[in-house]
Amino acid sequence: MFVDRVLSGMRPTGSLHLGHYHGVLKNWVKLQHEFQCLFFVADWHALTTHYDAPEIIGQNVWDMVVDWLAAGVDPSQATLFIQSQVPEHAELHLLLSMITPLGWLERVPTYKDQQEKLTDKDLSTYGFLGYPLLQSADILIYRANRVPVGEDQVPHIEFTREIARRFNHVYGRETGFEQKAEAAVKKLGVKRSKLYRELRTRYQQQGDQEALAAAKALLEEAANLSMGDRERLFGFLEGGGKMILSEPHALLTEASKMPGLDGQKMSKSYNNTITLREDADSVTKKIRTMPTDPARVRRSDPGDPDKCPVWEFHKVYSDDATRDWVQKGCRSAGIGCLECKQPVIDAVLKEQEPMRERAQLYLDDPTLVRNIIAEGSDRAHKLAAETMRDVRNAMGLNYS
Ligand code: TRP
Ligand code: SF4
Repeated sequence: MFVDRVLSGMRPTGSLHLGHYHGVLKNWVKLQHEFQCLFFVADWHALTTHYDAPEIIGQNVWDMVVDWLAAGVDPSQATLFIQSQVPEHAELHLLLSMITPLGWLERVPTYKDQQEKLTDKDLSTYGFLGYPLLQSADILIYRANRVPVGEDQVPHIEFTREIARRFNHVYGRETGFEQKAEAAVKKLGVKRSKLYRELRTRYQQQGDQEALAAAKALLEEAANLSMGDRERLFGFLEGGGKMILSEPHALLTEASKMPGLDGQKMSKSYNNTITLREDADSVTKKIRTMPTDPARVRRSDPGDPDKCPVWEFHKVYSDDATRDWVQKGCRSAGIGCLECKQPVIDAVLKEQEPMRERAQLYLDDPTLVRNIIAEGSDRAHKLAAETMRDVRNAMGLNYS
């Protein structure tokens, strides 16, 4: 039976916080019981934007793996590895680059967005332009069919599907397919076969989706085609020959509802985070000093939870009874803000307790983590090698 294969990666660009836990890691922990899962540290991807800060990457890689393990990602259920330990990712990236039109990369929305956003960095590099293609290689090399990602990454998955289709089209044709397809084109008649060829060229050379749709419509309307020829011409358009690389689907991860200490989204760049394994004193202090409804200056002033970041935490962490207590107590000035914060502090500490414990095991014995990654990279390498054999064969690179 075919088991769905899930793959996802994370860039090691800073320590993980509760936003990552609620947004991503909790989901990974759930998925690992349902599917064959591969999770990896995308260290090369981090270099596309942090090429001038290699020391940050080295440090963060191991911290991040410990964070994953602390969150409950289980190495006996999921395969954990580091991208650069499986160099076949780079080989596939290179080979795919041969058939990747520059226009496709330039049109990926994150390319311009990130360049405009990260103005302190020069991102007009070859590596940064190729970011989505490296991601495609990550996915296609494992023939992963489900990729858990946030909304912002969906265009990268769509791009990956187009690359897989193009690869299959260029290298996946069976013997005699071309001749049969050519013969079928002729059967379209002079005018329509000319149009079909033009549309096909436009789609294949420029990725023109309208041309693809028009060519499909043309085939639907061509009444004199046999079923076999029609199928062939659909395949000829897009590459329906042999499937060497399989097209993945995005498994959309719901955006995290985890608020930051200031009420904005929790994010390192806003400096409003609680890290995954932050020590209890620091967590307590951060929550005790976090801002509240600014209208509540004195203890005797009533407040409005809707204007208070602490309430956002209650929404994540508290049960109905506690929330009710907050609503009433705040609006009537019946409770003080420190009092109101205590259940949040307790809940966050309780959530973190098993994470701190699990992490301690790995901090005490770092060879455990090294071994988990060595084993995972080995397993990943074996899967990658299978795909690479097919890819090299298809591209004429089999010299043995
Ligand atoms: N680009 C992803 C991000 O920024 C990380 C990533 C790299 C990834 N390769 C991947 C995610 C492959 C899913 C699959 O979040
Ligand atoms: Fe915020 Fe609670 Fe204080 Fe109301 S009582 S302002 S909800 S911290």
